Amino acid sequence: MYFKTTLVFALTLIQDLLLTLGEDFGYDGVIGPTHWGDRYRECRGKHQSPININVLRVKQVTLPDIVFVGFDDSIDDIHVSNNGHTVLIEVENEPHPRVRGGPLDGDYIFSQMHFHWGDNDTFGSEDKINHRSFPMELHMVFFKEEYRNMKEAVLHHDGLSVLAFFYELDRHQHPAYDEITEALMNVTEPKSSVAMQHPFSFLHILPYDLRRYFTYRGSLTTPPCSEVVIWLDFEQPIRLAHEQIEAFRELKSAHGKITHNFRPIQPIGDRTVFYNVDSNYYSYNELDSDEDTKRSHKRGKHNASHISLPSSFISIFSIIFIVHDYL
Ligand SMILES: *[C@@H]1O[C@H](CO)[C@@H](O)[C@H](O)[C@H]1NC(C)=O
Ligand SMILES: *[C@@H]1O[C@H](CO)[C@@H](O)[C@H](O)[C@H]1NC(C)=O
Ligand SMILES: *[C@@H]1O[C@H](CO)[C@@H](O)[C@H](O)[C@H]1NC(C)=O
Ligand SMILES: [Zn+2]
Repeated sequence: MYFKTTLVFALTLIQDLLLTLGEDFGYDGVIGPTHWGDRYRECRGKHQSPININVLRVKQVTLPDIVFVGFDDSIDDIHVSNNGHTVLIEVENEPHPRVRGGPLDGDYIFSQMHFHWGDNDTFGSEDKINHRSFPMELHMVFFKEEYRNMKEAVLHHDGLSVLAFFYELDRHQHPAYDEITEALMNVTEPKSSVAMQHPFSFLHILPYDLRRYFTYRGSLTTPPCSEVVIWLDFEQPIRLAHEQIEAFRELKSAHGKITHNFRPIQPIGDRTVFYNVDSNYYSYNELDSDEDTKRSHKRGKHNASHISLPSSFISIFSIIFIVHDYL
């Protein structure tokens, strides 16, 4: 009993010491995710991120197309910095890229992007799909234009939107990432920063398919864990070579290499995850879910078996297909 009290006391001291050193939070021990809620109450909220997305439980929807503004511009004032928790990529001058459409009401302006990774290639992503982890995850953070800046936006339930992208391994290097990994070598020390040598476009570092994504309401995955984020998790991963992911693990915090910086999954609670399927796919399905008369008419007209299947059957097939993708 006495020992336990002393231990708790000692841990509190260490925690205070780390906090006074300006080390707000970390991913291990007394400043790790299970302790974030001690100092940041919202980290114990009911709508936290990340989550596991169970593909069999998502609700299929067809949302308006997302409009990506300025994503194929060649941006030449990009800064890369190490904030002691991750690497941040920021755009210096206006105008910043922006997004609208999809589940978003209004325009969202780019603020920064950063990454989450793990000790080795078997885990590191924050959200999971059917409990599958990916070696790394990209977060592109946007704030709602109406709120003018990040500081104001985090005070509103629809203040932020994060576009999240998973990475998976490829034997080949992704050429667009060479620039980034090169810059990483110059920001291994915490609080260091470098200007990128060459212009770069957002589109080049993203996957090809930007139409299929999961979307749900959640939070920042770091303190203060504000529940103000409309998450869009794109289904198609970005493919990187092992060495390119390895470059991120060279970054250091005040305590040595940042070997991992992902928060564990949080309870989904009463939330629904929506799955946006592209409109071609959906309209094909919709044709079949029309009234019975129409369907039987169609059945008589074409003899193709896939057309005569009830739409629910087709949905099951497509879900199996999706699940298969993630095995
Ligand atoms: C990855 O890291 C985990 C935790 O440190 C470990 O259990 C696992 O064996 C590692 N896997 C590989 C392939 O190195
Ligand atoms: C990083 O530093 C190396 C030299 O150490 C240099 O060749 C490279 O261009 C730098 N990259 C950036 C993005 O500043
Ligand atoms: C549909 O298939 C049946 C037998 O499988 C055949 O008798 C019929 O002529 C076919 N109808 C059409 C429109 O191809
Ligand atoms: Zn993040």
